[in-house]
Amino acid sequence: MTHFGPNASVSGMDSSYNEHSTAQNEAFEHFWPWLEDAVTHSSAFVPFQQSGLISYADYGCAGGANSAAQLASLKSVLERAGFLGGDGSSQLQVTLVDLPSNDWNQVAAAFFGPGAVGCAEAVLPCMVPKSFYAGEVAPPATLHIGVSIDALQWLSHTPPVSLKDGMMYHDGGQTHVEAYKRQFEADAEHFLRLRANEFAPGGLLLLVLPGTLGDRSCGEGAFSAMSHAATELCAQGKIDASLLEDFLFPVYMATEDELESIVYKAGNWEVMQRGGVSLTTLWDAYRTSEDADAYANTVTSIMRGVCAPLMQKCLALSAETVQELFEKTAALVKTDPTKYSFKNIQVAVLLRRTRRRPSADIGRRSTE
Ligand SMILES: C[S@@+](CC[C@H](N)C(=O)[O-])C[C@H]1O[C@@H](n2cnc3c(N)ncnc32)[C@H](O)[C@@H]1O
Repeated sequence: MTHFGPNASVSGMDSSYNEHSTAQNEAFEHFWPWLEDAVTHSSAFVPFQQSGLISYADYGCAGGANSAAQLASLKSVLERAGFLGGDGSSQLQVTLVDLPSNDWNQVAAAFFGPGAVGCAEAVLPCMVPKSFYAGEVAPPATLHIGVSIDALQWLSHTPPVSLKDGMMYHDGGQTHVEAYKRQFEADAEHFLRLRANEFAPGGLLLLVLPGTLGDRSCGEGAFSAMSHAATELCAQGKIDASLLEDFLFPVYMATEDELESIVYKAGNWEVMQRGGVSLTTLWDAYRTSEDADAYANTVTSIMRGVCAPLMQKCLALSAETVQELFEKTAALVKTDPTKYSFKNIQVAVLLRRTRRRPSADIGRRSTE
């Protein structure tokens, strides 16, 4: 089994991600009212009003288009609530976190192009090219609001299991599910302990991630289409069989219950909201139009935006083979949109940092 090291998702997103990430932003928009309401109405947020500086972090900003839109929503609710603007004294510190290999030029263009949200006078921007598992990204107790949208499903590394047929852990049955679940629990707990160090008491953290509801998990049909397409290319000698056999995506699709129990295990966070949803906009549009071609192209673009760089790297694919892989994926989805559907299943929690400070010895792992 190949281990991809501590930065398993080191390849980041494809350069096309910004254009094909409405599914991820839809997930944010679904759960955003929790955060909006907590900032606007809860007494939790009032202490920050006095400080003159509100500090916000986005863990996993990718190409930045969605993250900029999400920041714009937050900025306007802070303004409406009177925490920002008005007398002109308040500032909004913005910390954007992603892997060193992320395309930071794209982030800069999305946030700091003419008229973009990052150029507002009140915004103090900061880009942090660092794994969110690799340590803190801000000084102790300085952050007030954070979001991580569709990023925490990426594990710090692939668990030591291999699978001949399939690229997703759930294709491998119970042993694989258990190994991935354990890895997710360890990673998410570590993430929360690090964030507990960075957040001021009362600070709010919204975590949204693709997950599992009942017996369905996010994108499972589309992952199968990619896997079947890769198997076909392997049979044609275009993908190395041993690399394909070793390859599993380092992602876990948690349930709401799993997420909540990790929060309690990590300590220092209170669960204000929890939920899960299957967002059906894409599927509904297909059912209305019955345009299988358009549906297949959209699903494939979503998968390509998220998966192409990692697959290219781990499977040693040429640019031509990547192209062929996703053309085959689209052809399969088009042939059977029900079997290869993309279910946009998302789980989320809104957390509040409790008043107790973390003890000095937590939040660090020697391997990171
Ligand atoms: C699907 S994108 C989500 C982007 C954005 N939040 C959105 O709403 O569209 C996931 C992002 O998480 C980043 N990511 C994955 N693992 C990470 C890690 N360990 N540390 C920092 N970023 C990570 C990926 O590089 C990618 O840019």
